[in-house]
Amino acid sequence: MADTPATIYLKDYTPPNCLVDQVTLDISIHAGFARVAARLAMRRNPVSAGGPLKLDGEDLQLESLSLDGQPLTASAWRLEGETLVIDEVPDAFVLETVVRIDPDQNTQLSGLYRSKDGYFTQCEAQGFRRITYYPDRPDVMAKFVCTLHADKASFPVLLANGNPVAQGDEDNGRHWATWEDPFAKPAYLFACVAAKLDMVEDYYVTTSGRRVRCAVYVEPGKLDQCDHAMAAIKKSMKWDEDVFGLEMDLDHYMIVAVGDFNMGAMENKGLNIFNTKYVLARPDTATDTDYQNIDRVVAHEYFHNWTGNRVTCRDWFQLSLKEGLTVFRDQQFGMDMHSAGVTRIQEVRGLRAAQFPEDAGPMAHPIRPASYAEINNFYTATVYEKGAEVIRMIHTLIGKQAFRRGMDLYFQRHDGQAVTCEDFISAMQDASGKDLAQFQRWYNQAGTPKLVVRSQFDAAARRYTLEVTQQFPATPYEERMTKDGLPQARGPYHLPIVIGLLDGEGRELPLRLEGETSPVGTQRVLELREAQQRFVFEDVATEPVPSLLRGFSAPVLLDYPYSTAQLTHLMAYDTDAVNRWEAGQRLATGILLEGVAAIQAGKTTNDWIPQDYITALARLLGSAFVEGGDPALVAEALNPPSENVLAEQMEVVDPDAIHGARMTLLRTLARELREAFLAAYLELASDEPYSPEGEQAGRRALRNACLSYLAQLDEAGAQALVVGHFEQAGNMTDTFAALASLASLDIPARHVALDSFYSKWRDEALVVDKWLQVQALSRLPGTTADVRALMTHPAFDIRNPNKVYALVRAFCAANPKHFHGADGEGYRLAADVILQLDPMNPQVASRIARCFDRWRKFDPARQALARQQLERIRAASSLSADVAEVVGKALE
Ligand code: PHE
Ligand code: ZN
Repeated sequence: MADTPATIYLKDYTPPNCLVDQVTLDISIHAGFARVAARLAMRRNPVSAGGPLKLDGEDLQLESLSLDGQPLTASAWRLEGETLVIDEVPDAFVLETVVRIDPDQNTQLSGLYRSKDGYFTQCEAQGFRRITYYPDRPDVMAKFVCTLHADKASFPVLLANGNPVAQGDEDNGRHWATWEDPFAKPAYLFACVAAKLDMVEDYYVTTSGRRVRCAVYVEPGKLDQCDHAMAAIKKSMKWDEDVFGLEMDLDHYMIVAVGDFNMGAMENKGLNIFNTKYVLARPDTATDTDYQNIDRVVAHEYFHNWTGNRVTCRDWFQLSLKEGLTVFRDQQFGMDMHSAGVTRIQEVRGLRAAQFPEDAGPMAHPIRPASYAEINNFYTATVYEKGAEVIRMIHTLIGKQAFRRGMDLYFQRHDGQAVTCEDFISAMQDASGKDLAQFQRWYNQAGTPKLVVRSQFDAAARRYTLEVTQQFPATPYEERMTKDGLPQARGPYHLPIVIGLLDGEGRELPLRLEGETSPVGTQRVLELREAQQRFVFEDVATEPVPSLLRGFSAPVLLDYPYSTAQLTHLMAYDTDAVNRWEAGQRLATGILLEGVAAIQAGKTTNDWIPQDYITALARLLGSAFVEGGDPALVAEALNPPSENVLAEQMEVVDPDAIHGARMTLLRTLARELREAFLAAYLELASDEPYSPEGEQAGRRALRNACLSYLAQLDEAGAQALVVGHFEQAGNMTDTFAALASLASLDIPARHVALDSFYSKWRDEALVVDKWLQVQALSRLPGTTADVRALMTHPAFDIRNPNKVYALVRAFCAANPKHFHGADGEGYRLAADVILQLDPMNPQVASRIARCFDRWRKFDPARQALARQQLERIRAASSLSADVAEVVGKALE
């Protein structure tokens, strides 16, 4: 059995004992190896307690080591594990090392590694130590100069952070280039590239007149897929100036796309490295969603230049300092660029699909965890998405202007520093005057709080009272911390509840709170601080319908006993788009849970679907076509909660009954509203030239939603419509929508479509990923076996993260019916992949292992099957810390 990985604690943080002022790197790439010479100008840190110099290293072969020009004798240094330790160093010194590394064998994709067209780096969080010996921690910030050498014909492009300062040719057909980054940075932001790439460039002139060269580098032949990413760079630069007054600070801003990448993208200073998935797009290869994701990821990485790079994290426990804030910023950008309502709805959907289950499972952690075994396991929905929600709550509590002042103050105080979450909160507190001490609980407590809201209407006194109780039960995280001797006190959260009240006609009431002399608007931010708190509204003539938590103002579960009539009312009249959508989701959830109970009771009828709901959806569909209608919002509203989100609502999850109920609902709606769906489908047809932008994409989303309903009809005519849609599609959005429907239909056209799609796109890796994904998500029986078979198809490659995510993670995370199949084959497949992948790429293996998180929520038979696979994984010899932590916590 694998050793339990060692735990690292936030409380043990100590400042580095040595600092690095200047790093001079010389990286020489050869077939089969690379040699890295590093010259570190270092000095003792005046604020540290002293002690030996320790340099992190991983998979390095040390060739030489000298201090101030003198080779170090054997007794002057040692390796503790892989850490290089030198007991005696002067106050200031120059340390020089030469190491040999093997990028061709680096399947982890951390450090310097080979991908198809050349060599790339990934250093966050701890990849730099796989390139050279270094104090690899974010609070050590240094200026870097990097020289690269490689074969010129094979790797004509040589890039690193900052500005190009010199280049030239050398013997044997090789060449070199030197780059210098004027900004001190932590090692995790280092990057270099030696590859054969095509490049497109453009210029952006900042407000203060800096002419920034923006460049996108891609695999040869893909320049026709770069326009959107380039436009996104310029839009992001403009937006950050307009909204936060933040300018690009370098002369070069480069994005390099690489097909082998564990994550989405990386914000290395001036040289972002991106997964191709978030760069490449052409109307016939990328969907509207892909285009939007590119906007968001490009913006996210660009925004990191200030929130992450100029001001970075003191230690990795503070990860949400840069990630939560930067996600918040890319969300705001998304809301400004696209429909604000739809953008927010998609975020809420994502939070419920990924973060809430995480917070309810064995890996639950606060946005700033107090301990971890493997930092790579903490690039989570909690640190990112809940982290962004926490920033958003500050924004809501103090208001937009104070938030901007807080950002200004944060940069004024901390530019060029490595800081903590408290530093950020202090800036916000000082700029706004709002006491945020209690608010900090969001950084320390795990779990999704629940708000139980009850209302009371006193007609005689014309008074409406909302009583709010918060629940915040402890999670396995707190139990673990207590066991470790670090008991975590829990207490009520400080959070904003944005609300409105609607009267019987759907009008918003002016809101006067108890103690106020006159109403203040029709929407209020209520501040909750206590475990139990009341809010009293005066001058309320008739009992209103409360619109609670507008815009999803806090990441909580809301318990309010809405009646069907109230929800239908909100669906029709709420001025808040999120709550209109939310009302529909609540209605659907209630109905679906009844359906689940009916199926569990052996019923095969659909009489649990109320006619009123069908009527409400018909009205909703119609609303897309009236003046001011928003088809994209309607498309969101037509999509009931996913099977996974429904599962979270059940005490014991029954994946078959959930699937059965949801499918019955979709089929019933398809039958009952067939004419309306068909009419909408026809009406929304367009022959405009493709653009991924707002309105057109919104109409396509609704049209494809109608198509997917119609595909549920067990009728030749409807199936022919889907096939026709596939064959006539003029863009990937439509093609993919039809293919996704066909993948779940047991008709000959399914195979024809899948085959033609593959033969057309077999050389376009990202499109092949889509082909794998639709098959992984198929509802048809036999899907688990099909996924297993696809793992041996030439289209699949277990060493490529995108392929694993498209086929295996899609199956495990988004096809619950089959992943949780009663025969245990889904679990076995996942375990097989994890065990095969772990020695090659532990980060990706660990992400697949997370799919077991919720195993204890299932029935005893499924639990036994899942446990068997988890134990089988745990028993493997030499498991990575990544997988060991996830599996260990799951079994805890
Ligand atoms: N810091 C990157 C981002 O959020 C994500 C990332 C983490 C990429 C670790 C690679 C490795 O933008
Ligand atoms: Zn980020």
